[in-house]
Amino acid sequence: MKVNIDGETRHLFAVWYEDDVVKLIDQRKLPEKIEVFLASSTDDIAFAIKDMVVRGAPAIGVTAAYGLAMAKLKGEDMTVAVDKISKTRPTAFDLFKAIAFMKDNNFDMNAAKRYSSEISGRSKKIGEYGNELISSGNRILTHCNAGALAVVDWGTALAPMRIAHNQGKKIFVFVDETRPRLQGAKLTAWELGQEGIEHAIIADNAAGYYLRKKEIDLAIVGADRITANGDFANKIGTYEKAVVAKENGVPFYVAAPGSTFDFSIASGEGIPIEERSEDEVLVVNGKRLGPAESRAKNPAFDVTPHKYVTAFITEYGIFRPEDLGRVKILMNKDLFMKINQ
Ligand code: MRU
Repeated sequence: MKVNIDGETRHLFAVWYEDDVVKLIDQRKLPEKIEVFLASSTDDIAFAIKDMVVRGAPAIGVTAAYGLAMAKLKGEDMTVAVDKISKTRPTAFDLFKAIAFMKDNNFDMNAAKRYSSEISGRSKKIGEYGNELISSGNRILTHCNAGALAVVDWGTALAPMRIAHNQGKKIFVFVDETRPRLQGAKLTAWELGQEGIEHAIIADNAAGYYLRKKEIDLAIVGADRITANGDFANKIGTYEKAVVAKENGVPFYVAAPGSTFDFSIASGEGIPIEERSEDEVLVVNGKRLGPAESRAKNPAFDVTPHKYVTAFITEYGIFRPEDLGRVKILMNKDLFMKINQ
């Protein structure tokens, strides 16, 4: 991804392996600071995923792949390493895809590097297909951060916007702030700013207002897990955006690589939903909101039924939910994505 540091444009990845450690852009520090978090053990990797130093389904998968390869090189007990990493975040399917891939490849570091470059190459393809859905002048809604930070490079939902912008199309992005962790306001807005893409952050509850006024032409979001029938989990709040988009005739697209598709689950009912700490809701800028005795609930994801999805943008092309059987066939023919479940 393009990042301007002290007036110089640099190309950074969200995660990489260098000098015997896994390096991650510390997403907890953005947009104030670009800081690199160094993970040199499985415990560091598990902490980084759990505490959201790195987040976003594909980037979690890449971090797990590098982390397992590093654990093997350091002579760690691999059963323990796999167990610790697989217990970090339950919803993002990419985590389990990456673990299965690394097991199949004997936790080899070259396999982890390949995993990372495949994911980033595939997200570029998503961008190229998704770009075909964007016309100059379009106003696009997105939720959470499904950008390069959430992948390694390019992004899923943001990849089509990057390519459309690079081709000179004039676009405007409505960025849901995405309570409670504010991935939209802090990360998506930062990425779009670095690319020079025009955007505005909106309060989460403002999207319906703009959808009804027809000031949004299409919505593109990412996904954490997509099931066989096309139901999908994504950041909490996605469901209500999809319902309001359909109600107002606004196309709603879901961008994701094969590594996010879990064909072993028939429908969204089977997706495990992560519950995170109450403090993410109750504490803002170090200050507790609400009465001291009030509790909070904090589901990190919700499930959107497939009837609200116009189409999925994948590295294989664009597919309506009823055509996901074709994605399964294509994945089975694809040596990297081959479904071993
Ligand atoms: O809790 P997060 O920040 O990991 O949630 C991220 C999302 O919901 C993204 O939309 C999803 O992982 C797709 S990222 C390309």
